Amino acid sequence: MMGALASIENLYAVMGHPIHHSRSPWIHEAFGRQSGMPIAYKAMDVPADQFESRVAGFLAEGGRGFNCTIPLKELAFRRADLLTDRAAKSGAVNTMKRLDDGLLLGDNTDGHGLRADLENNLRVSLECQRILVLGAGGAARGIIAPLLERHPAILHIANRTEGRACELAGMFEGEGNLSFSGLAELKGPYDLVLNATAASLYDTLPPLPDDLLADKGICYDLAYGSVPTPFVFWGNAHGARISCDGLGMLVEQAALAFELWLGFLPDTQPVIKALRETLSDSPH
Ligand code: ATR
Repeated sequence: MMGALASIENLYAVMGHPIHHSRSPWIHEAFGRQSGMPIAYKAMDVPADQFESRVAGFLAEGGRGFNCTIPLKELAFRRADLLTDRAAKSGAVNTMKRLDDGLLLGDNTDGHGLRADLENNLRVSLECQRILVLGAGGAARGIIAPLLERHPAILHIANRTEGRACELAGMFEGEGNLSFSGLAELKGPYDLVLNATAASLYDTLPPLPDDLLADKGICYDLAYGSVPTPFVFWGNAHGARISCDGLGMLVEQAALAFELWLGFLPDTQPVIKALRETLSDSPH
């Protein structure tokens, strides 16, 4: 009985649709063990049209915070009673915290999670670099401000639909050296190429020119999987110094959510390593 009560007091979740593939429960339970603050963290399959009612039900159950993934991040942004600055800038919420007065604070840890993976784990500096972001959807939007804060030499956004790249660049006007184009007009070289398109999810790759990547440049796919994504293959085939997927970003954004909820920033290295091993053991 005490055990059940304890877990209700520390109830967290990830909501999204589909959700069965989510690694977030595994990651947060690992953080819970590491911090000595075990939490109950469940995956909830929540389609967009059930978001409001499922959030209400979860809070009534005693839920203290939750993550949101596809397709709920914009809805969560609108549902939040208060927003952190980084969530306000990104227009999306991936982490909600129930405050003591019952209000919901919305945060977005995706962009800072990416930056932590690049800077702390991969030892990639962003200052004065020529950075290319492929894609102009929600995933791209969440990473622009944290990248610009590091003052890259250029941040170029290229998207299949040029109008969306233009719109996204317009949101950050005056905040750095930002440009945009369609994919067909893309010209290198870039020191860092980030794939924020949904192409990897369909096991495809946007068409990219062979001279896109600078000598010893870096390729980073925000998507991840049990096998390297087509973009990671592309980077390796084009001489990238590092070509990697977004598994590190996944763990880093989760660590920042855990910190927001419980005031403890987990050590991510062992969790990234163990998750990589778990993934490569799983059937493709
Ligand atoms: P997310 O929230 O994952 O970013 P999204 O808002 O639907 O999802 O955006 C998907 C992004 O992937 C868009 O930039 C999309 O390009 P369009 O704006 O032209 O649709 C891009 N995308 C999806 N499939 C792609 C493909 N096969 N090749 C190139 N870009 C693709």
